Amino acid sequence: MEQTLLRSRIVHFRDDGHGSPDAALEYFEDGVIGFADGHIALLEDARAARARGLDLAAAEHRPEALVISGFIDAHVHAPQLPVMGSYGEKLLDWLEKYTFPAELQYADEEISRRQSDFFIDALLARGTTSAMVFTTSFAHSAEHLFEAAYRAGMRLVAGKVLMDRNAPAGLLDTAERARRESAALIGKWHNKGRLGYAVTPRFAGTSSREQLAVAGQLLRDHPDLWLQTHLSENPDEVKWTASLFPEARDYLHTYEMHGLHGGRSVYAHCIHLSDSELERMADAGAAVAFCPSSNLFLGSGLLKLQKLRERGIPVALATDVGAGTSLCQLQSMGEAYKVCQLGDYPLGAAEAFYMATLGAARALHLDRHIGNLAPGKEADLLLLNGTLNPLLRERLRHCRDIREELFMYMTLADERIVERTYVGGRLAYLSPLAESL
Ligand code: GUN
Ligand code: ZN
Repeated sequence: MEQTLLRSRIVHFRDDGHGSPDAALEYFEDGVIGFADGHIALLEDARAARARGLDLAAAEHRPEALVISGFIDAHVHAPQLPVMGSYGEKLLDWLEKYTFPAELQYADEEISRRQSDFFIDALLARGTTSAMVFTTSFAHSAEHLFEAAYRAGMRLVAGKVLMDRNAPAGLLDTAERARRESAALIGKWHNKGRLGYAVTPRFAGTSSREQLAVAGQLLRDHPDLWLQTHLSENPDEVKWTASLFPEARDYLHTYEMHGLHGGRSVYAHCIHLSDSELERMADAGAAVAFCPSSNLFLGSGLLKLQKLRERGIPVALATDVGAGTSLCQLQSMGEAYKVCQLGDYPLGAAEAFYMATLGAARALHLDRHIGNLAPGKEADLLLLNGTLNPLLRERLRHCRDIREELFMYMTLADERIVERTYVGGRLAYLSPLAESL
């Protein structure tokens, strides 16, 4: 069995950090990582490895690079690359003016297939090795995304969008079609290779009660599926949802009433939740996808991260492209820092990187497989190289420790410092900038 050996600087979060990113951060100034057969085989200090007889001459030596585990994007829309940076609107108008028309383009299977391949390549070029993904309401768009992710060998969770009201007719399905198409996709793709299926009602406002009930039934029929949807993103959306569901005591209740609330639920945004909603999230073990780039771009509001932390609600970082303005999780971390500054919570680099790696894996119940570089985990990892960006190269010379270095990456860097991406131990991306090294 062939083993890839890399000797480099290495950083990740140990499994035994008890949820404290700072305590779990582990850094090897001179480390060695080995992977074979898709999994991590060893991770240790280079000197210790040599002392126990490992032949380091067999390792590629990259002392200037930094090996980290692959990024996880907990909430992103594959068909929305063409609406990134669309001007001037808040959520509900942005959906109508830009997003629904873009998703209608996916009626064309050729467009859907081509764009799905492009999306997967774009994730890998940004060091994102796993994601929880919305497609469109066309079942073929979920097929195409799963096909592309399967070819790439990625651990990816996705679903066909369910929406049967309050959107253009061409995008609407029905409760019955939602049931039939979701069931077929689940049968074909859930647990195939590294793939998983998420039942995906877009948000309460675009589904009938009947359709939400179908989604709840799918989750009861298959308890290891995920639920992904949007919750409490924008004040007008919250009011509109209340008007559509007068029987619900609040936004979260629209999901609870239909069996759409549990430990495998991932709700994007969650900015305007009441204390009661937060308590119910905590009780259920439901997770929040924190989408700072999107929340700033659409002017949706500022997530109070410390309120979620106080209640032990799992939080995973997400780009929410196309409302987010970058598909790169380093940029999400930088935006998260700014959101938290405005809420008097100085987000540290360890916590930010945790929310995009091991913390995200835990929030999404994927940490048995991914999230860090512990031997036995799947070998999804990156080589970051700050010297690929000349300005950053200068700034990094003034960093005194790994936390300062990580903070530079999250505030000043973007995908240009991703030199390589490995998925399941296979080189899936090599930066063209690295060719000059
Ligand atoms: N709420 C319902 N659909 C969407 C979407 O596509 N993007 C965002 N940001 N919020 C939504
Ligand atoms: Zn979204």
